[in-house]
Amino acid sequence: MTERAAGPRTIAIVGGAGKVARRLLPLLLADDCTVVPLVRRPEQASELEALGAEPRLLDIERAGVVDYLPVLDGVDAVVFAAGGGPDGNVERKRTVDLGGTLATLAACAELGIRRYVQVSAIGVDQPPSADSSPVWQAYVAAKKVSDLAVRRSELDWTILRPAALLDDEPTGHVQLGVDLEPAPISRGDVAAVIAAVLPQPATLRRQWDVVGGVLPVLEAVARAAS
Ligand SMILES: NC(=O)c1ccc[n+]([C@@H]2O[C@H](COP(=O)([O-])OP(=O)(O)OC[C@H]3O[C@@H](n4cnc5c(N)ncnc54)[C@H](OP(=O)(O)O)[C@@H]3O)[C@@H](O)[C@H]2O)c1
Repeated sequence: MTERAAGPRTIAIVGGAGKVARRLLPLLLADDCTVVPLVRRPEQASELEALGAEPRLLDIERAGVVDYLPVLDGVDAVVFAAGGGPDGNVERKRTVDLGGTLATLAACAELGIRRYVQVSAIGVDQPPSADSSPVWQAYVAAKKVSDLAVRRSELDWTILRPAALLDDEPTGHVQLGVDLEPAPISRGDVAAVIAAVLPQPATLRRQWDVVGGVLPVLEAVARAAS
């Protein structure tokens, strides 16, 4: 399974202007996919359009499920890579990370979109330490409940749980597995893992930690899925 399989051709990215999403875009375009980043600001849409994407506007914090239907209409797969970000806002963990996931899942079910890849975070099933910040506790809770909803869905999901994300150049080498040591990983390498799992049937209904490692991306995915 180290070869790329044929997979979804039109792929929406929720959180499409994010740092992981921006690194995923060229990989999917290079695979001749149509990429539909969902963004909340027109200037983000213009910028991504110039790069070859077909962006659509959606503000997760203002949208209900009904608003997702037109923007996800016609896509074959959805990557959820949105997040409330590092602004220290507890409420945005609930509205963006969790609320966004739940609404996206509901819209996919409604539209019959089966393939779904969730970008989560390593270790979120472990209770955060009692002295961790309220923001961190809210983040962990949002990701944990989001992933539970993904696993309970009828979709063809894959959950990827990266360790701390770096803006370093991608190495092309990663490790996927369960209960891994949280070695930091570049956003570009996470993007490469997303691109690798999207078309692979062996990755359906699987959840992995994704950390810095020594195996080429396709081989790491193949080993984890075997
Ligand atoms: N940071 C880490 O070390 C780490 C580790 C493991 C996992 N993760 C997770 O990995 C995922 C991707 O990370 P990243 O670095 O790519 O994150 P990022 O750059 O912060 O991207 C998140 C995207 O979500 C979008 N978003 C936030 N609120 C929104 C709203 N109301 N409506 C529409 N879009 C909204 C942001 O839009 P704007 O650009 O408009 O703000 C941003 O483009 C996140 O879910 C994050 O939690 C992060």
